[in-house]
Amino acid sequence: MSYIGPMQTFKAYKHTEAGKKIKAEFVDLTLEQLDPGDVVVRIAYSGVNYKDALAATGKGKILRRASCIGGIDFSGTVVSSADPRFAKGDAVLTVGGEYVGVSHDGGYSAYARVRGDWIAKVPQGLSLWEAMALGTAGYTAGIAVVRMEHNGLEPANGPVIVSGATGGVGSVAIAILAKRGYHVVALTGKSD
Ligand SMILES: NC(=O)c1ccc[n+]([C@@H]2O[C@H](COP(=O)([O-])OP(=O)(O)OC[C@H]3O[C@@H](n4cnc5c(N)ncnc54)[C@H](OP(=O)(O)O)[C@@H]3O)[C@@H](O)[C@H]2O)c1
Repeated sequence: MSYIGPMQTFKAYKHTEAGKKIKAEFVDLTLEQLDPGDVVVRIAYSGVNYKDALAATGKGKILRRASCIGGIDFSGTVVSSADPRFAKGDAVLTVGGEYVGVSHDGGYSAYARVRGDWIAKVPQGLSLWEAMALGTAGYTAGIAVVRMEHNGLEPANGPVIVSGATGGVGSVAIAILAKRGYHVVALTGKSD
């Protein structure tokens, strides 16, 4: 479905505070019921991040309002845009930012309506699926490597050790560093 009319409904997964607990349920929505934004995105994929689990279970103080569609990240295709940086058909993504899925309706929905400042075009060579397979954890690993290289890290300086090696961030960090020519040493607490 590339076009959606104002009265057409779609499914979304909503978290709502119910006393000290969080109620999580599928709801039917129309576009106009989504939080306002200048870009409408037909969502292809979202991920399940630790932060999403904390939001859904109420175990962490993640939600910043009483009711919100979950999903802190998503990839998808622009349906309409009032932001000149994006046009219909653009492949876009957002990862673990300050608002989406926390204080603004998020990625667990067929559609999202967000501010252009919160999304980016999917880099060439990356599919919508890959963008979310890497997700917020992969993005975190990526910016960590960029920052370390900015601070002078380079393969000629010797081996790089990655702790939490089997985790979401650690495993992607290992892949990125190895691909960039580093001698990577994985540090793990797991015997297997
Ligand atoms: N995922 C994200 O989007 C994201 C974003 C920003 C920041 N972070 C932060 O990045 C860190 C890693 O996140 P993650 O998503 O990769 O988590 P994860 O998938 O749960 O991995 C964490 C890894 O840390 C190791 N570990 C667990 N308990 C430990 C302990 N007591 N002492 C030493 N190592 C221990 C384990 O690896 P081994 O069994 O291999 O040792 C575990 O797999 C966390 O501090 C998280 O808050 C994550």
